[in-house]
Amino acid sequence: MEKQEIRTFGRRHGKRLSMRKQWLMENVLPRIAPAGDAQILEIGFGAGEHVRALALRHPDKTIVGAEPFANGVAALLGAICDATTNEILPEYKNIRIFPDDVRDLLRDTDAKFEQIWVLHPDPWPKARHEKRRLLQTEFIKTLARHLAPNGEIIIGTDHWEYFDWICGRAAETNLAFETPEIDIIKTRYQAKNMAETVAPKYIVIKNK
Ligand SMILES: C[S@@+](CC[C@H](N)C(=O)[O-])C[C@H]1O[C@@H](n2cnc3c(N)ncnc32)[C@H](O)[C@@H]1O
Repeated sequence: MEKQEIRTFGRRHGKRLSMRKQWLMENVLPRIAPAGDAQILEIGFGAGEHVRALALRHPDKTIVGAEPFANGVAALLGAICDATTNEILPEYKNIRIFPDDVRDLLRDTDAKFEQIWVLHPDPWPKARHEKRRLLQTEFIKTLARHLAPNGEIIIGTDHWEYFDWICGRAAETNLAFETPEIDIIKTRYQAKNMAETVAPKYIVIKNK
């Protein structure tokens, strides 16, 4: 039997979905399942603000977002579909959604991505929860195997202790990494935490 993986996310469900979002989950989500043709991956997209920004910035690329939190998936579906017809808006036709743990997606594909984004991964701040952190050394190596030539993994967090910890994990690989300043849209999670935290820091990891 395969070893059970440690769960890296919290809830799968939040408050009850509206009838429209439930309809989108049943009728639109199956139509935009990933088909192995995406060039950009975003892991743990929350409500999907940055997935939408990527879709607009790269209209010629296919973006796949992975997120196990059903209400987040429904929020993204609600935002990419016309409010009256429920058809996918033309500018978001390049979005695919994997509504589950990204490790299941990566296990079943040898897809290579030009960019892999991880914005505000759950910091799991208590020492006893450290094993739940997604950006473990082995996972970073797995992501690197899914990079296209010159591809990059871009990780952003405003949890500076987790930032240092991820840099430590990246240093355990033989990958190249740097910590540049990057200016991107604020995701919902970041906006919620702005009052009590500092600016996000970014780690960009590449194959040597
Ligand atoms: C703190 S939230 C940040 C959400 C979003 N990136 C933002 O900035 O608003 C972290 C997200 O990562 C998701 N997540 C955690 N583990 C995951 C995994 N193994 N695969 C995909 N998503 C995951 C969680 O469900 C959660 O929505």
